[in-house]
Amino acid sequence: MDVIDFRSDTATLPSPEMREAMATAELGDDVSGEDPTANLLEKMAAEMLGKEDALFVSSGTMGNLVAALSQCRSGDEIIIGHNSHIYVAEAGGISTLGGISYKPVRVDERGMIDPLEIEEAIHPDDMHYAPTSMVAIENTNNPSGGTVLTPEDTEAIANVTQSRGISLHIDGARIFNAAVYLETPVKELVKHADTVSFCLSKGLACPAGSMLCGSAETIEEARRWRKMLGGGMRQVGVLAAAGVVALETMIGRLAEDHSNARKLALGLKDVPGISIEPDRLPTNLVFFGVDVRDQDEVVRKLERCGIKIGDRGPVWRLVTHYGISGDDIDHTLDVFREVFSEHAIR
Ligand SMILES: Cc1ncc(COP(=O)(O)O)c(C=O)c1O
Repeated sequence: MDVIDFRSDTATLPSPEMREAMATAELGDDVSGEDPTANLLEKMAAEMLGKEDALFVSSGTMGNLVAALSQCRSGDEIIIGHNSHIYVAEAGGISTLGGISYKPVRVDERGMIDPLEIEEAIHPDDMHYAPTSMVAIENTNNPSGGTVLTPEDTEAIANVTQSRGISLHIDGARIFNAAVYLETPVKELVKHADTVSFCLSKGLACPAGSMLCGSAETIEEARRWRKMLGGGMRQVGVLAAAGVVALETMIGRLAEDHSNARKLALGLKDVPGISIEPDRLPTNLVFFGVDVRDQDEVVRKLERCGIKIGDRGPVWRLVTHYGISGDDIDHTLDVFREVFSEHAIR
């Protein structure tokens, strides 16, 4: 039985073209800057995002971490969305390893932080306060439902950060989903930010890796931090080769994931025991309320039909990606209708 894995777009497997590229990649020692494939990927990423340079890192978490370490000093403070991945799900690395404190501010249902709140959260230059040195935003915003920030949203925040002389970082783990949704070049979405990280290993289907993009100076600093964190890898072109193919072939197809997510959401609207607002669904993350008897048994039944669900509780998240087809969505909806009608609390 084929498994339909909705737990995350991190479940994606590399495409046949990626596997071929990985097997035949030209390699060298990347710590010495001699891996031609890693160098090519970094050049491509920098160009696509309109930044001077880029760095291949092991994960989105490492990209965000080295972005902060490169632009803040120990004792500084970073302003961050209250529900953001950096704040909630990156093991507190920025504070533990960087000595940088977090100042969480409220994120609205679009995934946006009010620039006025940022303005108010920035400390004045006073020895009683930790110096504020960075604001980090998330696009797409995962917990808000894969919501998208526009170039104007980012510009409004950048107006504040620039006027106060602090950095703006975008956690763009799924920035290409945002670009595809808005039908806007990704460059436009990040042009007001100092740094942006994005994941190759989510919707772009690479087996591993993320990129951090920014000025040549910041990326040089980030390269040093990456080494210190143990993230300097040698013939890493084996992985970077998949990234090159991803940037060439996997971005446009994200629209398919978005339309599958929409189809799924529209179908789930009529399933008993599920509450969902399909209109609030721009990209590939489908969140919905679940009100059923014996939720563990519901999950077991779905698994017996080949459907893997990550979250439990009153709200579930299903993620569409390269490994899930339109037919898989039809099958999932059939199974959901059957299982949920047995368990829905009416
Ligand atoms: C918005 C966001 N940022 C960063 C990350 C971290 O990526 P990684 O798992 O590669 O460390 C994730 C992972 O799910 C994410 O959703």
